[in-house]
Amino acid sequence: MSESITSVLQENRVFEPSEHFRSGIGPNYVPDLQTYHARFKRSIDDPSGFWGEVADGFNWFKKWTSVVEWKLPDARWFVGATTNVCDNCIDRQVRDGHGDDVAILWEGEPSTLATTDDAEVRRLTYSQLQLEVSRTANALKSLGVRRGDVVTIYMGMVPELAIAMLACARIGAPHSVIFGGFAPPAIVDRAQDAKSKIIVTCDGAWRRGHIVPLKANVDEACEKLPDVASVLVVSRTNCPVNMRAGRDHWWHEIVPTQSTDCPCEEMDSEDLLFLLYTSGSTGKPKGICHTTGGYMVYTAFTAKMTFNLVPDRGQVFFCTADIGWITGHSYIVYGMLPNRVPTVMYEGAPNFPAEDRIWAMIERHKITHFYTAPTAIRAFMKWGDEHPHKHDLSSLLLLGTVGEPINPEAWIWYHEKIGSSRCPIVDTMWQTETGGHILTPLPGCTPTVPGSCTLPFFGVDAAIVDENGAELPANQGGLLVIRRPWPGMLRGIHGDRARFIETYWSKVKGMYVAGDGARRDERGYFWIMGRIDDVINVSGHRLGTMEIESALVSHESVVEAAVVGIPHEIKGTGIAAFVTLAPQYKGVADNALRKRLMDHVSKEIGPIARPDMIRFTASLPKTRSGKIMRRLLRDIAAGKESTQDTTTLEDFAVLAKLREVDE
Ligand code: WTA
Repeated sequence: MSESITSVLQENRVFEPSEHFRSGIGPNYVPDLQTYHARFKRSIDDPSGFWGEVADGFNWFKKWTSVVEWKLPDARWFVGATTNVCDNCIDRQVRDGHGDDVAILWEGEPSTLATTDDAEVRRLTYSQLQLEVSRTANALKSLGVRRGDVVTIYMGMVPELAIAMLACARIGAPHSVIFGGFAPPAIVDRAQDAKSKIIVTCDGAWRRGHIVPLKANVDEACEKLPDVASVLVVSRTNCPVNMRAGRDHWWHEIVPTQSTDCPCEEMDSEDLLFLLYTSGSTGKPKGICHTTGGYMVYTAFTAKMTFNLVPDRGQVFFCTADIGWITGHSYIVYGMLPNRVPTVMYEGAPNFPAEDRIWAMIERHKITHFYTAPTAIRAFMKWGDEHPHKHDLSSLLLLGTVGEPINPEAWIWYHEKIGSSRCPIVDTMWQTETGGHILTPLPGCTPTVPGSCTLPFFGVDAAIVDENGAELPANQGGLLVIRRPWPGMLRGIHGDRARFIETYWSKVKGMYVAGDGARRDERGYFWIMGRIDDVINVSGHRLGTMEIESALVSHESVVEAAVVGIPHEIKGTGIAAFVTLAPQYKGVADNALRKRLMDHVSKEIGPIARPDMIRFTASLPKTRSGKIMRRLLRDIAAGKESTQDTTTLEDFAVLAKLREVDE
């Protein structure tokens, strides 16, 4: 944490709102900071008036009796109202005469190494999407899915993924999307916790010319999931798969024959829309609950304001996230479709078949809005300026970043090399739990400073406080909290009320604790300093160090493991593991065993959790009460002299040993 503080303190370059952007976009919803402050104040003083007006822009079957009811820690938004998210994403656009507009623009992984120009492209209009989603919804019903049943979705980035989610929303069956990079045990945990009886998957997914065996992974998971009665399989790669009679069904055999008549279910505003599992500091991933009305209004409204979305002006929005994470849920699907700006979905990787894939896509589709993570920007920098230079990026109006703090070097590169110094950058800070952006600049309005996510979004009463909830003076680091409810906030952790209260509502009385350390500067801008718990952001992917430790100790050679984050040039945070071995393995503590352990973690969780380094050690440094001293390990892993107080360290010899290089 300490380096990030010093690096941000040196940063004082201010980028005023771009004139190019202001003059080029048509309506600018928030023209200047004064307007922002006035509207922000209203959103805090009169949340019912503010959010009631925003919600009026959506289609409801029945209007609310009150906008918000707040009984800490439970918020209910648009109480008594009924609506359907799928109706607001799709049917409404068709009813309003926009059925022929492009809703989703999908690009598959190019199939040859020779060029990035042979891309396979599919454009789905709102009318087509309506037909596809209705058929899929009827297919799910035919497989026994009823309102309230959780549908697990484990797919690659193909249009059918968005179609499946929207089909679930249409019939009131909450979905639980599992990132396609996770391994079978991760599917087991999540499907079991959600009590899901159906999984929607693909035969395989393309990634850098290889096939990720999604169906085979589901088969392996299903050995431990006796309650899964159906598996619906999209054929994408034609890789060989085993289809189990009675359980497994091909999408192309049962979906196209369904009726296209499937009315949207009338859902209560507080009915569950989806579960999304995310990592915390302890135990297994938790199923974050998002409900219907509040999430719909919040994601579409944040998307509209933060990205200044305007339909019918040629805007094309490209978010590079995978839909398996919250960024894809909110800013590829649910926040985008109600705004009627085409949303781009892509399959594959940014460096396949070549390192200019993304820039070729921007040129090809005249993309105006580009939203990615700092880890990707750092990789683009490393691959070289020649790649973006080869392409015409003049369609770009706005750039966004999300997932982790952005280092000023990456910010400036992004601004100059990708945005030609004319596109505003919105550094959007938010979480799976917040549903949408909570701290972000508004383009054409907020002056930006590289590395700061600037100011709170409307209705978000964010502050930096100490453990007693007292607000801290400028530039003093503390806990990031939110003191009032906002529509997109999580409504709970699936099946674990105690953990919900303990994680978010117990550290500071009466406030939502985000889990990040942060400070505010003199101008009121927020600077995120990093997680205060055992969550790490590896390449913008959120992982719990405990999960990785559990995976390591499940290997027969490991007795004890401690995992910490280390600074990593591209990933932001890399994974370092300290491992003590069972006696019979002590003689074989070599690189081969290291590799086996790394492979083991990939197999248990997924390749994103693979440690970057493993250090074998005779014992781990602990306090007298037996707690592993993680901060000390972080310093050791980063190769730093520790400034930590080691007076409580149980055994000084351990520390000395750990400092010895063991290779
Ligand atoms: C971090 C991703 C700094 C933060 C949307 C948060 C950020 C965690 C930013 C949530 C940002 C996200 N600047 N840090 N702009 N955006 N984070 O749930 O630590 O995958 O708590 O949601 O990512 O990760 P999650």
